[in-house]
Amino acid sequence: MRLTADMQRVVREQALGFVATVRADGTPSLSPKGTTTVWDDEHLAFLHLHSEGTVANLESNPRAEVNVVDPIRRKGYRFAGRAEVMTSGPCFEEALARFARERGTDGRSVKAVVLIEVTDAQKLVSPAYDNGSTEAQISARFFARHRRLYEAAFGGHAGGASGSSRRGGYEISTDRTRLDIDVVHDFLRRAYWSRGIPLETVKRAIAHSLCFGLYAPGGKQVGFARVVTDGAVIAYIGDVFVLPEHRGRGLGVWLIESVLSHADLQALRRVELATADAHELYARFGFRAFRHPERQLVIERSPEELYGD
Ligand SMILES: Cc1cc2nc3c(=O)[nH]c(=O)nc-3n(C[C@H](O)[C@H](O)[C@H](O)COP(=O)(O)O)c2cc1C
Repeated sequence: MRLTADMQRVVREQALGFVATVRADGTPSLSPKGTTTVWDDEHLAFLHLHSEGTVANLESNPRAEVNVVDPIRRKGYRFAGRAEVMTSGPCFEEALARFARERGTDGRSVKAVVLIEVTDAQKLVSPAYDNGSTEAQISARFFARHRRLYEAAFGGHAGGASGSSRRGGYEISTDRTRLDIDVVHDFLRRAYWSRGIPLETVKRAIAHSLCFGLYAPGGKQVGFARVVTDGAVIAYIGDVFVLPEHRGRGLGVWLIESVLSHADLQALRRVELATADAHELYARFGFRAFRHPERQLVIERSPEELYGD
């Protein structure tokens, strides 16, 4: 069968296949091969560097299954096929040359090249998608998990704190230095929840928040959201707006989607916000009234009390 473009992409990106074979006594054998690659439109290949068992199994029973999974997207493929173990010949030489060129593999370490003619391929999709999550949401969640594992093992931060995404010429970015503080202040000082807020207070809030700027084609800021969070247990989303002339294009939904799929905001116990009029918008993301409102306490001061003349 022919390997689709998506199958080839996953194999090339991951380069790690788990290869299942059958031992002479009928028991299963499974082992990882980090040299797994696309040989051509119908074949996969991997190198026998330390795979005595797999190769011995294939020599008596050429049937193999290879699973290649993207651990961030939580998707992949299971390929079934027939393997051929090559230790010499033009195909073997070509494989050595290709691995040397593409990955710098030293041919002297290669005991054999295993070529697998793929006869069947099935898509693998994690049950994490069963609740309707998008690929972006799942990826953010598992990227965050891998990042936490990396940081726990090696300390420090695995990646930059700011990122951006584009849609229809608009852009959302978490780069705080790009924010147009005057645009944010101008909106917030008139908003019902923060009427009269001083510029200095907006600046201080931004400095201590995870901020999302929405930019129109051309770069002018036309929307904003910020999140106060410990990045582990709780987050509060606030000061969300899209300027009136840019509404009606799904930008608010995209903004909230971007907030909720941010790597630091996954698997939190609580994500909170307050709204007077956008319950419907937030309901589609799972926001509900407090389950036990009688347990919620707050110290509240109105904008009039704080910022009024
Ligand atoms: C991430 C990872 C990638 C590996 N890639 C390869 C590989 O490409 N080729 C290989 O021969 N061994 C590779 N190994 C080592 C084999 O999986 C390991 O030696 C295994 O025990 C071989 O089992 P087998 O003898 O039943 O084939 C890899 C191991 C790990 C953990």
